[in-house]
Amino acid sequence: MNRIIKTVSLILATSWCSYAQAPTPIKVNAAQPVADIQPTMWGIFFEDINLGADGGIYAELIKNRSFEFAKPMMGWKIERKTFHEGEILVQNRQEKQSSNPRFVTVTLNNTAKGDLGLTNEGFRGMGLKKDLKYDFSVAYRTASKGIKLHLELLDANNAVIGSGVVAPSESDNQWHKATASFQSTATEAKGKFRLWFEGTGNIDLDMISLFPTDTWKGRPGGMRADMIQKLADLKPGFIRFPGGCIVEGIDLNNRYQWKKTLGSLEERQLIMNRWNVEFAHRPAPDYFQTFGLGFFEYFQLAEDIGAEPLPILNCGMACQFNTAEVVPLDQLDPYIQDAIDLIEFANSDATTPWGKVRASMGHPAPFNLKMMGIGNENWGPQYVERLKAFTKAIKAKYPNIRLVNSSGTDPNGERFDYLNKELRAMNADFIDEHYYRTPDWFLKNAARYDSYDRNGSKIFAGEYAAQSDKTVSVDNRNNWKCALSEAAFMTGLERNAAVVQMASYAPLFAHAEGWQWTPDLIWVDNLRSYGTPNYYVQKLYSTNRGSKVLPMLQNGQALTGQDSLYASASWDNESSEIILKIANTSAQSISRDVALEGVKKLDPTGKWILLKNDNLGAVNSFENAIAVSPVEQSIAIDTKKKKVALNLAPYSFSVIRIKAVK
Ligand code: AHR
Repeated sequence: MNRIIKTVSLILATSWCSYAQAPTPIKVNAAQPVADIQPTMWGIFFEDINLGADGGIYAELIKNRSFEFAKPMMGWKIERKTFHEGEILVQNRQEKQSSNPRFVTVTLNNTAKGDLGLTNEGFRGMGLKKDLKYDFSVAYRTASKGIKLHLELLDANNAVIGSGVVAPSESDNQWHKATASFQSTATEAKGKFRLWFEGTGNIDLDMISLFPTDTWKGRPGGMRADMIQKLADLKPGFIRFPGGCIVEGIDLNNRYQWKKTLGSLEERQLIMNRWNVEFAHRPAPDYFQTFGLGFFEYFQLAEDIGAEPLPILNCGMACQFNTAEVVPLDQLDPYIQDAIDLIEFANSDATTPWGKVRASMGHPAPFNLKMMGIGNENWGPQYVERLKAFTKAIKAKYPNIRLVNSSGTDPNGERFDYLNKELRAMNADFIDEHYYRTPDWFLKNAARYDSYDRNGSKIFAGEYAAQSDKTVSVDNRNNWKCALSEAAFMTGLERNAAVVQMASYAPLFAHAEGWQWTPDLIWVDNLRSYGTPNYYVQKLYSTNRGSKVLPMLQNGQALTGQDSLYASASWDNESSEIILKIANTSAQSISRDVALEGVKKLDPTGKWILLKNDNLGAVNSFENAIAVSPVEQSIAIDTKKKKVALNLAPYSFSVIRIKAVK
């Protein structure tokens, strides 16, 4: 009965529509491009938040491998049959090796396998895969002969699902490295790793490490391939790194220092991750930065996935929500030098000190760094005076490096207005705007950049995400409502590509059991990862970018919410296609003709990529990773009348590609 009523009302509604005046067609003119769209336009923001690096893309499975966490045995459990005082002793050689002072000394006395051991719990467990090979390594020192280390992979119930043996051979009391590889016989999301000791004597152990061999590009000690593939699939124009607030640190001591993330792993000095203590409601006491994924690996990743590197450096100020420490202006030089040295590290040849470091790490060719951010979400006159000093020194040596400047934490208000004025007066190359706002804000701001000065500073929308609840609320969801509002808003970014030259959603990754901040673009557990509806919106933009903005107008106006429609168009030089992007944020389907002007010829069939869901609350999940994901179909083009008729589904985002000859 219900269905009949619905059908009847649909017929009535349709026939009513046919008597109503047809809406004015939307016009797209391929012969009148209004701006270039930069290859950097759609990029990614990476920060080690939510277990993004350690426990995330950095594929190390052992937590606290070098015993440097605040509590040196965190993540480790001592297994023993009988207690012997001091048999596993944490030693600290601070004076000799301040970057990695701690190691453990194990004392054995006719110890048999099963008498004494160490179990590591991993990062919320270890993701282990059946038949996959795992690489174990350890730094050891012993004067004793005949000691053996028995290695075991365990499932959640402590059953052994893989094993190996290492027999440290040297007895010269120098540090050596031992390795072994072995397979897992089962797939387990909550695995563990155990070491049993056998023999008599003493052995020192440090850097106890376990990596899967299916890393990105098969690099030993590399990155988790499924997560990196999700980034590569975005074909991002740039990668902002390492953040985010992590750049600033809770205090200056806790700031990100790129020079400490290079060279051999044991020399990369671990620090507490600032997200460890940021939110009392989401404590993460085991969250540290080992820097196994450091600046070299970052540049290499950017190169791998064809993205421009965009490092963000500390500007001599710690997080202003935390300690707000600043370095005195007369002591800013080392901070500025860090920025200058980073350019040398990335771009200069091996005859320069920092170019030599890069080459020695395996990359003699330059990384071609073109831009860099000074400060994350810093604000106030303290920021401006430090920024001026950085800018002067960097531009004097490297005039072609383009600098990203912070406009603070919010896209409006007193702090924003002050910085916006100051930065424009300084002719900032890029102003970095951040917005964590409601879906409604995103819709209302689709025209935000229409009035921005075309000749002034360019905009980097460096961090944004629609919040289903409110910023930093644990109830925020990556639902379709948020994603659709971002899709609608992003038509305004694309339409204003003359001003907005880079944009990135934030944050990027979240571990389902280790997150501090939501919403996030990609969710992972120890074995799986999925893209949110927001991820698919980003992907639709970045893989359908186009080279030039085309005017897309109805009644001479851009579509910025009239009849709940938001639209932009581009021309793609490479494929010779017109690309239309249209968000319908209403609960009704909407029909519109789009006249395709300025073309000699059109292909009769176009491609329509549709992202839609009737339920604005819809989300993706590990169980249904593609509940909200794009579907591709063809669409007929009226080649004679040079138009395409669109029936835009309720709550939908459409990308339409039409081949044309101009
Ligand atoms: O993306 C999460 C945080 O939001 C970033 O670290 C910071 O820059 C912003 O406040």
